[in-house]
Amino acid sequence: MIKNAIAVMTSGGDSPGMNAAARAVVRTALSEGVSVYGIYNGYQGMIEDDIQELTSRSVSDLIQRGGTFLGTARSMEFKTPEGRQKGFQNLQKHKIEGLVIIGGDGSLTGGSLLSRETGIPIVGLPGTIDNDVWGTDYTIGCDTAANTIVDAINKLRDTASAHRRIMVVEVMGHHSGWLAITSAIAGGAEYALVPEVKYDIPSICEDIQKSYEKGKRYSLIVVAEGAGSGIEIGKQIEEITQIDTRVSVLGHIQRGGSPTVEDRMKASMLGEKAALALISGATNIVFGFNEGKVVSINLFDAVNNTKTLDPELVRLARVLA
Ligand code: F6P
Repeated sequence: MIKNAIAVMTSGGDSPGMNAAARAVVRTALSEGVSVYGIYNGYQGMIEDDIQELTSRSVSDLIQRGGTFLGTARSMEFKTPEGRQKGFQNLQKHKIEGLVIIGGDGSLTGGSLLSRETGIPIVGLPGTIDNDVWGTDYTIGCDTAANTIVDAINKLRDTASAHRRIMVVEVMGHHSGWLAITSAIAGGAEYALVPEVKYDIPSICEDIQKSYEKGKRYSLIVVAEGAGSGIEIGKQIEEITQIDTRVSVLGHIQRGGSPTVEDRMKASMLGEKAALALISGATNIVFGFNEGKVVSINLFDAVNNTKTLDPELVRLARVLA
């Protein structure tokens, strides 16, 4: 049981909904009579003792905001045992007895190393737009990011149709194709190129040319960054088809924005679960969702397994294209 204090931090690439999750951790812990500290700027902040006690008011006016009020950073120093020890000493200084880490694969890996080396209880929440954390079919921010991409696809469809162009849209996802395939299906794109599935540009070009001969006015191709460069693929397609082609690399716009209701709700539910579990003595678990229900995953399993893309999504994208 934790009676004194826990800490919450965000780490790795920020995602819409991280604030909602942190807010839920803070307010749940305080409601249990446990103090909460915020670790600012991720693991680097832990090393530099950028740690401050939080109140309920600290997390006011946050649920609607993207990004993370705690800040985040990628820390090379924390990748070393010495760096992790330094961070742990700061946690001890503040009498912090447990840690909630909101982040992606890399951040949760850092947390599992910290826990193994120091014994400090850790509960993780999957905070990344990539939806690539093993054991959960949802990660905080993936819904908002997918909506941002679909909004961009809707806008690109207008101009592609006006000019009878092929439009290539490169999206984020690190090594996961979930954002690409989900936004391609929801956006009605003709193709989704993802790292998990082999693709052949010449045969895609042949299909596009045939569709144009039948009167198709445009074609939308979503490319996951892990599957290749949208700019290179666009050049190849234009050379082969001789059809006017343009490329949009959406970049970091996919990381921002006010979180959707889904991200706010799920992030809040995960934040509450994490705080209650940590305070009750749990450790080395990650909370996520499976078919709409909150599930707990072993932290080491989550970071040592690679999530695969749902083949049903791949099939659906093909059928509906
Ligand atoms: O992991 C989230 C993510 O947005 C990936 O999709 C992307 O490849 C990466 O972060 C970009 O990292 P950075 O913000 O450090 O450029």
